[in-house]
Amino acid sequence: MGPLSPPARPTGPASAAPPLARPGGTAKDGRPTVRIRPGRRPVPGTLLAISDLHVGHAANREHLAALTPDDPDDWLIVAGDVGERAADVEWALGTLAERYAGVVWVPGNHELWTPRNDPDQRRGEERYLHLVEVCRRLGVHTPEDPYPVWRGAGGPVQLVPLFLLYDHSFRPDGASTKEEALEIAYNAGIICTDEYLLHPDPYPTRDAWCRARLAYSEDRLAARGTDLPTVLVNHWPLVREPTRVLRYPEFAQWCGTDRTADWHLKYDAAAVVYGHLHIPRTTEYDGVRFEEVSVGYPREWNRRGGPARPRAILPAAQG
Ligand SMILES: [Fe+2]
Ligand SMILES: [Fe+2]
Repeated sequence: MGPLSPPARPTGPASAAPPLARPGGTAKDGRPTVRIRPGRRPVPGTLLAISDLHVGHAANREHLAALTPDDPDDWLIVAGDVGERAADVEWALGTLAERYAGVVWVPGNHELWTPRNDPDQRRGEERYLHLVEVCRRLGVHTPEDPYPVWRGAGGPVQLVPLFLLYDHSFRPDGASTKEEALEIAYNAGIICTDEYLLHPDPYPTRDAWCRARLAYSEDRLAARGTDLPTVLVNHWPLVREPTRVLRYPEFAQWCGTDRTADWHLKYDAAAVVYGHLHIPRTTEYDGVRFEEVSVGYPREWNRRGGPARPRAILPAAQG
């Protein structure tokens, strides 16, 4: 991976002027817009997260186009599966970057597809690094940039965008190897489209790319140079437990890696943000909050009464 350079637009609560205090003010959804600590200046903004916007679907595109922050200091984490076509991803992230004080993006499997109808036919790592360059132009933070610090309400925490992929270690019962896991899935008719459209070039396989990403990310995390807690962001869940509720358990092998099972503890996570499963919910493992923040496809969110809006990650909801 090439030398790191920070996004062009390092704005947000760390550098923005304090907003006008609105003691007791509330946003449309009832949450406080500014939190006041006794004897201190107001701490601005909310750290929000969303994923799986899938803007190739017209209704999802409209949903994204209507997203606006309640507070000018809000940051938005976008945890992958924005869309498949490179131009769609650029439009979506550009739209959000114009509105939110900070945007953090990690790739999902859909951004890494090379669909036949995309004029941009880049594959694998080249496609990923192209999207990273697009993000840098837009001022969006990526897994290749220095980890930004959220200094708004609930902070300070270090935001750690990750791109880790999967390695078929979330195997179905009866499988002890990747090959056996794939055979069980194929026999059940459960085949992730990644097998056809997510090319791992120049790596020989997607699990080889996953191993390279794990090594890269572990090196970055070991050198992060702070004892601040983290918010870990990865498209795929870092622990296997959330995949236990999948309708088709054979699909779990495309959803993460056992190698990250203890990262939420090892890297002192205040929260972990992920998507991919299209099962939005909040769970807790080892006392750490995990937030699945996906919007999903229209046929999925229609059953839930509408598409999800960005969820507050920090400050943590009072429980
Ligand atoms: Fe998705
Ligand atoms: Fe996904």
